[in-house]
Parts: sequence; structure tokens; C-alpha cells
Amino acid sequence: MCGIVGYVGSQDAIDVVIEGLRRLEYRGYDSAGVAIVDPAGGMRTERRAGALSNLDKQLAEGSRIAGNVGIGHTRWATHGAPTDRNAHPHVDCSGAVAVVHNGIIENFAALRERLESAGHEFASDTDTEVVAHLLEVEIGSTDTDLAAAMRAVCSQLVGAFTLVAVHRDRPGVVVAARRSSPLVVGVGDGEMFLASDVAAFIAHTREAVALGQDQVVEIRSDGYTVTDLQGGTTDGQPFHVDWNLAAAEKGGHDFFMQKEIEEQPTAVADTLRGHLVDGRIVLDETRLAEQDLREIDKVFVVACGTAFHSGLIAKYAIEHWTRVPVEVEIASEFRYRDPVLDRDTLVVAVSQSGETADTLEAVRHAREQRARVLSICNTNGAQIPRESDAVLYTRSGPEVAVASTKCFLTQVTAGYLLGLALAQVQGKKYEDEVAADFAALEAMPRLIAQTLSTMDPVRALARELAGSETILFLGRHVGYPVALEGALKLKELSYMHAEGFPAGELKHGPIALIDDGMPVVVVVPDPGARGVLHDKVLSNLAEVRARGARTIVIATAGDERVRRLADHLIEVPSTPTLYAPLVTTVPLQVFAAAVADARGYDVDKPRNLAKSVTVE
Ligand code: M6R
Repeated sequence: MCGIVGYVGSQDAIDVVIEGLRRLEYRGYDSAGVAIVDPAGGMRTERRAGALSNLDKQLAEGSRIAGNVGIGHTRWATHGAPTDRNAHPHVDCSGAVAVVHNGIIENFAALRERLESAGHEFASDTDTEVVAHLLEVEIGSTDTDLAAAMRAVCSQLVGAFTLVAVHRDRPGVVVAARRSSPLVVGVGDGEMFLASDVAAFIAHTREAVALGQDQVVEIRSDGYTVTDLQGGTTDGQPFHVDWNLAAAEKGGHDFFMQKEIEEQPTAVADTLRGHLVDGRIVLDETRLAEQDLREIDKVFVVACGTAFHSGLIAKYAIEHWTRVPVEVEIASEFRYRDPVLDRDTLVVAVSQSGETADTLEAVRHAREQRARVLSICNTNGAQIPRESDAVLYTRSGPEVAVASTKCFLTQVTAGYLLGLALAQVQGKKYEDEVAADFAALEAMPRLIAQTLSTMDPVRALARELAGSETILFLGRHVGYPVALEGALKLKELSYMHAEGFPAGELKHGPIALIDDGMPVVVVVPDPGARGVLHDKVLSNLAEVRARGARTIVIATAGDERVRRLADHLIEVPSTPTLYAPLVTTVPLQVFAAAVADARGYDVDKPRNLAKSVTVE
């Protein structure tokens, strides 16, 4: 949700900023812009609606922009349509200050009214522009430095924001501030960077500093200074980025999503690594005593989109292993219905980015109600893990494609780890049982890799079905969240209508949708699955087929009974029932990407979406 870059150093700022924006384009691609300060005097701003390539073209047509200090922005529109005039950076009346922004300034209307009555003229419909004018007021005709002005401005703002600013007459610095939106500093040798995500500067440095709430940072070529809003000097949180440039590049794949799907075996293996120590499942970070976890008598999983689907799978595992009831909630609904929470409730927040506003607000609500919060997150130092009592990190590396794939599988994996940890601490599983379950999990990366090696027929089928109007997805038990995830992937990438249903629910209404030849994907459990699960899904499969559906069946290799009910059979390796989503999801990811590709859409950057959604 908007990507931000800032640079001070000896390189041409325009090159560093554009390169950084390219790596952040997954955060938004409604428009892009830059402001570069020329040490010889002056500042040049360029911005353009549409993808970064439009700005690139505009820059190539004009004269080269000189300067070693600059900021840039790639936008996901909230206030104001995605037009040239609303593209960032925004400037004040005199054109001396340029600002880029991620987030929403909730009191911008009142601020704008005040500024307009004081004679300020606005050139956009954005909430951001008020910041440029407020900085103009604070700096005035005095020699107030930009950081002091930024502190004074932030004290007047309500909402969530990352702000980055440059000033024509203060050429050696870039100043930034953050509240509930991401911002990291990159520490180079004689050069400094600012960005929403380390991917923007990973080509230059792997040393970074995470900033806290309501902190302002000034970067210069020789270092950086962090202050709180009162001007007191404070510290950021230094960290080393443990992945490199190659991880943030396509590496020979046509699109990032394809690469990220292929990376799943490694991502799952990395997520498991080091979590079984001396027979005990350990978390990555915890400020909770074992006793706190022992007393947990209810679990809520809160998350959005794909992360929510991983939570649905966690419910099956946690309840089965611990007998502790688990509710899974869409994060944006959670706090509004006043859920019953207390000290013995564990709220599990699942988020790839760790900055999703809906999930963050759910976490804050849970903490206000004194519940314990554990987060499952892919981004070190992000706001959600920072505000949690305990953290399990998914070690997927950077996920650039907007559609989540490897992070889904690692979130599912982390859900299993959490289930095992709770079962162990609550005395529901002996050490040898935990070890056996963990060993079965460790076998999963190999089975995921095996699944990935058989995906060519899935791509061919996707091309065949790319013209369909609707595709339905059915599953039972853990297959149901897989069906939901398959439908979401297809919707968001191919803009085709798709729905996921519990297979047994179809006969209560949705079966009326089935038409002659309508593709229906059915996720069939392993024949060894507990109880009569397998038989029941086969009956549901027969029901839709009897009504003319064209069935696409995902089933365990060697499941002979399913063969006669499948128009297209996609075989996956046999797994323990609870772990099946780690393999059954894979063909659905491949299918969705291939349908989108066949329909001519940008697989990595689907329309209207952004990778991380930092507004409610
Ligand atoms: O960063 P998060 O995991 O909190 O993001 C949650 C959802 O916005 C995200 O999973 C979204 O649904 C993806 N586009 C799905 O592919």
C-alpha cells in the first residue's frame, strides 16, 4: 500500500530512487513520482499516473535529473483518483518542500480547511498535500530544520502514516516520520536510504534500522538521527537483512508468482528449521511464561484474505491436538462485534506483511481486552509482531507478487507449529508424539517439491478453461479452506468469478448454480483420511457431476475410486490428513496464475490490489 524511497549519498539519486521504486511496485501501481534536490540549487519533481514504466518513459523524454538527494513514491490510491495531479510527491505553495506519504491522514479535511482559509492553494485531492503545506508553515521564513518541522507537523496529524520529505534549501538531508505504517532506514557506506521495505535498498546494503511509533529520522550521507516527536534523541532497532538481492529478483521466471510458487519447499523447510529443540517446540520470540500458555482456554485467529484461510486450517490442527476451542475471524470484523476476550484467550494474528491495518487493529483491540497476542508474520520488525506477546516468523523471504503463495504455505506450517507447541505445553501430547508430528511435517517440503514437478498438465488445463465464466471450488475439512484459497487466487488474478464452498453445503443452495459443462474443482481428502471424510466428498463429487459439472479433481495419487468421477484428475502425494493443504493448494496456485497469464493479465500486479493493505 504505497511504496516509499529516500536517498542521500554520492550516487545519482534518480537511479537509486527509481530502482528502489521498481522493487516496491508490488505495494501499489496507480501512479509514481520522484523529487530530486539539486545541490547547485533547485528541486525537480516528476510524477505520472499508471505504472512506474509511465514515469520511466516521461523521465527518458526529458533532460536528466541531477542531484544526490531524492525521494520517490509508488501509489495505491485512497484519497483522490489515480491521476497525474494526485500522484506523489506533493509540494507546498512555493514548491520548496516535496512530500511522499503512505497511509491515511484522517483529519486532513479540517487541516485543509484551515490552510485554505490562511491562503494556501491546493493542487490535488489527496490527504497528503496538507503535510507539504503544514511543513511550509512550520519552516516559514525562519531557519527551522526540516526534522523539527516534521515533528511539529506530525503532532497535528491523526491517522496512520509514513512521510518522507525533502526541501530545496536544505539539500543534504531527507527527513521521514512514521506512525503505524512501515519505514526502515538502510545504512550504507557514505550513503543512507529510507524505504517502506528493505527490498528497495537490498542492492546497496543489508544493514537496516527499524523505526518505532512516532519517530522522526533525518538521514545524511554520513549517518542518521532518530528523534521522538518531542525532539529527544532516541534509537531505532538495527538489524541485518538475512536474504540477498537474488531473493528479490525473478531469477529467470516469467513472473514473481511463478518463482515464489517454486520456492515453497524451501520456504516451508526454513519455517520449520530450529523449532524443535531438546524435544520441545519453541517460538521465535516470546514474552509469555509457559504458565500463560498453559492457561489458554480459547483461541481466536484473526487475519485477512489468504492469511485468513491459513487460520481456518490452523483451527483444525489446534482443536484436534489441544481440545482448546478455536474461532477464526476476518480481522476487519473482529473488534466491531465485541468478542469475549480475557487473559486466558490467545489471539493469533496472521499476516505476511505484519502491517495490515485491519489485523493490527484487531491485535490492539485484543490487547486492550488483556488477551495474549501471538503473531505469525513474515516481516521482521513489522508493527504486528512488535505489538505481540509472542511471534512465530514464517521464513519465506520476500514475497513480491501481490497474490500470496509461499507465505500461505508457511503460515499454514506455522499454524501447525503453534498447535504442537500448545498441545505440548498443555500436556495434551507427549514429547515422542510431538517429535513424530514434527518429523511428518519435515517430510512435507519433499512432497511439495514432488507436487511441483507434475504441474504441466495443470497449466495446459488452465489454458483450456481460461475462457470460463465461473469456476466453483469444493472441499471438506481442511480441504474447505483450500477450496476458498483456490477461488480467491483465481478471482484476484484472472478477474473470473469463482467461489469456494464446503462440499457438503452445496446441496443446501449453491448446487443450483451448476450448469452443463461448468468447471468445478473438488479437493478430495486422502483415502486414509479419518472417518468417512473421503467417502463423503466422493458423494458430493458424484452429485455435481450428475448435474453436468466438468469435474477437476485433486486427489491422492493411486486413489482409484475417484478416477471414474473425474473429468480431469490432478494427483498429489499422500500426506497425513491435517497436512494435506501443503500439497493440495499448490495446483490451485499454478492454475490461477496460468489462467491469468492465458487471459493476458499481469500476474504479479492484479488490478485494484496492493500487496499490503495499510488502511482499514
Ligand atoms: O500481509 P497480510 O498477510 O496481512 O495480507 C493479508 C491479505 O491482504 C492478503 O493475504 C491478500 O488476501 C492476498 N492478496 C491474497 O493473495
